[in-house]
Amino acid sequence: MASAAIRVLLLLPLLPSATLSQAQSNINLGSSLPADGPNSSWKSPSGDFAFGFKRISNGSFLLAIWFDKIHEKTVIWSANGDKLAPEGSNVELTREGRLVLSDPKGEEIWATPTDTGVSYASMLDTGNFVLEDGKGSNLWESFSQPSDTILPTQVLDQGAKLVSRYSATNYSSGRFELWLQGDGNLVMYTPPMFDPTSSYWSTQTAGSGYQVIFNRTGQIYLTYRNGSVLSKIMSQPVSSSEVYQRAVLEYDGVFRQYVYPRNASLGSGRVMGWSQVSSPVPTNICTSIRQNIGVGACGVNSYCVLEDDQRPRCKCPSGYSYIDPSYEMDGCKPDFLPQSCDEGMLEKELFTMRDMINVNWPLNDYAFYRNQDEESCRQACLNDCLCDVVIFGGSTCWKKRMPVSNGAFDPSASDTKALIKVRTNNSTPNIPLGGPRKRDNRSMIIIGSVFLSSSAALNLFLLLLTSLIWFRYTRGQKALGVKPNVISPFTSMQSFTYQELREVTGQFQEELGRGAFGSVYKGVLTCNESRVIAVKVLEKLTADGDGEFNTEVGTIGRTNHRNLVELIGFCNEGQNRLLVYEFMPNGSLADFLFKGSRPSWFKRTEIACGVARGLLYLHEECSKQIIHCDIKPQNILLDESLTAKISDFGLAKLLMTDQTRTMTAVRGTKGYLAPEWFRNMPISVKVDIYSFGILLLELICCRKSCEFELYDEDQMILSDWVYDCYYQGKLDLIGGGDEEMLEDMKRMRRFVMVAMWCIQEDPSLRPPMKKVTQMLEGAVEVSIPPAPSSFIGSI
Ligand SMILES: *[C@@H]1O[C@H](CO)[C@@H](O)[C@H](O)[C@H]1NC(C)=O
Ligand SMILES: *[C@@H]1O[C@H](CO)[C@@H](O)[C@H](O)[C@H]1NC(C)=O
Ligand SMILES: *[C@@H]1O[C@H](CO)[C@@H](O)[C@H](O)[C@H]1NC(C)=O
Ligand SMILES: *[C@@H]1O[C@H](CO)[C@@H](O)[C@H](O)[C@H]1NC(C)=O
Ligand SMILES: *[C@@H]1O[C@H](CO)[C@@H](O)[C@H](O)[C@H]1NC(C)=O
Ligand SMILES: *[C@@H]1O[C@H](CO)[C@@H](O)[C@H](O)[C@H]1NC(C)=O
Ligand SMILES: *[C@@H]1O[C@H](CO)[C@@H](O)[C@H](O)[C@H]1NC(C)=O
Repeated sequence: MASAAIRVLLLLPLLPSATLSQAQSNINLGSSLPADGPNSSWKSPSGDFAFGFKRISNGSFLLAIWFDKIHEKTVIWSANGDKLAPEGSNVELTREGRLVLSDPKGEEIWATPTDTGVSYASMLDTGNFVLEDGKGSNLWESFSQPSDTILPTQVLDQGAKLVSRYSATNYSSGRFELWLQGDGNLVMYTPPMFDPTSSYWSTQTAGSGYQVIFNRTGQIYLTYRNGSVLSKIMSQPVSSSEVYQRAVLEYDGVFRQYVYPRNASLGSGRVMGWSQVSSPVPTNICTSIRQNIGVGACGVNSYCVLEDDQRPRCKCPSGYSYIDPSYEMDGCKPDFLPQSCDEGMLEKELFTMRDMINVNWPLNDYAFYRNQDEESCRQACLNDCLCDVVIFGGSTCWKKRMPVSNGAFDPSASDTKALIKVRTNNSTPNIPLGGPRKRDNRSMIIIGSVFLSSSAALNLFLLLLTSLIWFRYTRGQKALGVKPNVISPFTSMQSFTYQELREVTGQFQEELGRGAFGSVYKGVLTCNESRVIAVKVLEKLTADGDGEFNTEVGTIGRTNHRNLVELIGFCNEGQNRLLVYEFMPNGSLADFLFKGSRPSWFKRTEIACGVARGLLYLHEECSKQIIHCDIKPQNILLDESLTAKISDFGLAKLLMTDQTRTMTAVRGTKGYLAPEWFRNMPISVKVDIYSFGILLLELICCRKSCEFELYDEDQMILSDWVYDCYYQGKLDLIGGGDEEMLEDMKRMRRFVMVAMWCIQEDPSLRPPMKKVTQMLEGAVEVSIPPAPSSFIGSI
């Protein structure tokens, strides 16, 4: 004991950090670290790794794990890349055994799940940060929640994902994922993805892969369930006693393995840095990525070049420049005003075609001609005001319009060249991407019909473009913000007075709709910039006043998901309770589906997956579980780019007076209601899953769940009819002549099966939302569903 103490004292001046960390290797309940304190980390016993805060920019902190002994302090794990912590935040291992990152106001930014039995935390020498019970088992570990990096001894189980970061220095989620799917296939792809076949790299081991292992000698491989090696991913043997190792899915979408000599930090004077070992995966992302859905390795209008250092770079064609000069992967925009199609404006003379040898944008042709020479291909594009680029290869000429995607420089494609149209007079002003481009009526019709003919890829690009513009636009608006009145106790939500909301809605003039909770009015918040809002005036609230309202509004305000309508603020003044939401310009899914022309199958599948992800978030991912209780197409709204957003969530509790569920207390809407509402059964998230199942059937068939005016009695109740068709192997009957869907029978069948599982009469048979999303996306198999209810089973 005494000698140990003397040793510590002797070592102290030499290795202060190592000795201090010895003492800290077990982190007790109640310990905390401030983001900006002098000692903002907990170190592993050897001092190789530290867990704590890394300053990202002025006043923003990342909770992370990094290699602590090396100069670069390379981050290998992070908790809050998408939501950096402000100055004054801290992380605490609470007395309940949760690791909680909270901001100075005490709001949780990130936390581990509640798990009773945690008795301490520990930063291990492997780089794994663990919460342990008293008996040495890990109840939570950073190794099973990887960010973009894996380390020796780390294992990826089925379902685990690495998500690339946004850029080398920005830890937000990026564009690429490495995913060991539930079926054992290891894939790399760019989300959002609905079709697992659109990966840009895979081991093709569906049905046999089990775990990805990174072992101490630097081998990374996929195993069978029995542990033997199925597929080697990286296999450059190294000595873990001499080097630090890591393998990372980098922001450019490539998975690479690196080593760093351990002795480099011990004063050799030379900075060695990380060096790459093994071939990267994939070896050339520029040519291996080619997606019908997605923009490819680089953004729109750019092309990818593998440079001498074997790293991809995104380049703009001449005459084009980066949309965001600080982020080259965002794509390119023309520096000139594109050609006009206005009649009488003979702009043709002002354009020329520039050659780009070995460059190809392989997708999105709108026309092609055989037996051409290069000059006629050039002229074909110059003479067509719609044409932006032609690819000439062999004797074929392909015409394309911007935005083009999946562009790549491919030295092996020696007979391919791109000819890109640019304005000769560069004195014309720059225009923003997607800015007004005048085409004549004839060409507008062509564009329209191309869109409606639903080439999925093209649609996606147009959608991507609109969402990009919308995103920038809304981001701009948010930055300007609305005038903060009273800062509410809830994060980023505003409290309004009744008078203010009266004014912004013009005395509640324009009613957008009327629902279970009261009416919704359109309004405009004006400050520097105007923002369109939807104001919901709540009626029929429970007698219990402020407390519950504030709690529920707080819960709603803390949600943040792409597929949920955002709550901007609220008013709680006397008898007046109002909620202020972002305005959804494309109305409700009910109108989109049941009024007007039939939306494309692709769009419908996207909406289905969007709603599923929104629900998954409400049920399983947000800080406090929310049961919606009223999922139906009227409560799904569509934003500018037709992204589905769930509305009216979190309100059910406000109206549910007590736990007696008589018919009058039933919150949902008939037709979408789970059977347990009508019986004396507990209400759980499974009621939403039932309603989602019905909604999914409506999305598949583009019709309402009940249509009593139909002359064919068998078809009146949608779920019964679909089940009959499914059971009799005649699913094409429900296609309604939707060719796009009928060509995609496999997916349609899968969707029908998922819906059948969701509408099971017995709530315990309905899968949780997580499983539902995985099944919809094709990540897990869907087993044969039983008849949804005993009544239908008797055919
Ligand atoms: C912080 O670290 C320094 C040495 O780096 C040490 O002297 C000091 O006691 C530490 N403070 C706390 C609160 O642990
Ligand atoms: C960081 O913040 C400090 C004080 O808040 C300010 O003086 C400094 O200029 C800021 N630095 C940058 C790079 O923004
Ligand atoms: C990282 O990139 C995201 C996405 O563009 C952006 O919203 C965020 O502000 C960036 N973070 C930093 C610290 O630059
Ligand atoms: C790592 O894996 C390779 C390939 O399976 C094997 O040859 C090697 O012995 C393993 N090393 C360790 C330390 O397990
Ligand atoms: C493990 O399973 C695979 C496939 O099932 C088989 O080919 C292999 O021989 C098995 N290895 C061992 C050691 O049992
Ligand atoms: C560090 O280790 C490498 C081999 O791993 C060796 O070549 C090099 O000489 C060593 N450098 C020092 C300063 O010890
Ligand atoms: C180019 O633009 C300038 C200024 O707009 C104009 O004076 C000039 O005539 C233009 N040249 C051609 C070839 O159109």
